[in-house]
Amino acid sequence: MSEKPADYSLTNGFESKTPFLIGVAGGTASGKSTVCQKIMEKLGQQQKEQTERRVVCISQDSFYRSLTPSERVRAERGQFNFDHPDAFDDKKLLTILKEILAGKKVEVPEYDYVTNSISNRSHTIYPADVVLIEGILVFYFPEVRDLFHMKLFVDTDSDTRLARRVPRDIMERGRDLEQVLNQYMNFVKPAFEEFCLPTKKFADVIIPRGADNLVAIDLIVQHISEYLKRSPTEKPQLEYAVLTRSTSV
Ligand code: ADP
Ligand code: C5P
Ligand code: MG
Repeated sequence: MSEKPADYSLTNGFESKTPFLIGVAGGTASGKSTVCQKIMEKLGQQQKEQTERRVVCISQDSFYRSLTPSERVRAERGQFNFDHPDAFDDKKLLTILKEILAGKKVEVPEYDYVTNSISNRSHTIYPADVVLIEGILVFYFPEVRDLFHMKLFVDTDSDTRLARRVPRDIMERGRDLEQVLNQYMNFVKPAFEEFCLPTKKFADVIIPRGADNLVAIDLIVQHISEYLKRSPTEKPQLEYAVLTRSTSV
């Protein structure tokens, strides 16, 4: 777990808004979105205007690639593998993350699970101090993985995840029971085992039981709060103090 953005902060200096980038991975319905929401709430960020937020959250779902007409038909029948790395536009994700690290304002599209495509709405992500990126495969692509300063893996058992995914997909993602179960058996479960679970080894912190694990969430919130307290103007002074102390010993 590195304390501070390395390459980018060195090139941009302390004035820049080079954020602390946190990746949040885990299987479907493990609670990634809920954990990120809780972190934002506990840091008092949810009620703030977008432009005022010091902590922001982005979903990897915004980086699903657009489908060809035949893939679109398969997706409508629940026969497209949205859990395979090829379903994502990892180059676009990498580009956007690099722009965020360079302190730029970016537009992130909203994903529509009903149409299986990017909607015409998008969110403006303003330069922030901490950026959370959550998704099933955020640790899969090496170039993306290497950008994170901290990596969290939300670890919830498969039965619980399936039991949560079924009602969520029916109520929030416009699916029916048969489609959700078929998709789960044919694509979601095998891809989790092949592509997502092996990335757990890259995590700095594993959160067992997901959003139920308030102790883990509080520890992470405390770590982020400490980071936020170190405002850009304090950082050089702190480092100067450490330098002078060590040279006088
Ligand atoms: P992910 O983003 O990893 O797919 P979500 O945060 O969307 O997971 O959670 C999946 C579903 O389970 C959602 O409907 C959410 O409200 C619910 N959920 C998440 N965590 C819990 C929990 N600890 N207890 C009960 N329901 C939960
Ligand atoms: O929020 P969660 O991590 O569950 O989102 C990822 C899941 O969304 C994947 O497991 C994938 O099967 C599902 N998905 C879907 N339909 C889409 C895009 C993603 O069912 N169009
Ligand atoms: Mg989610």
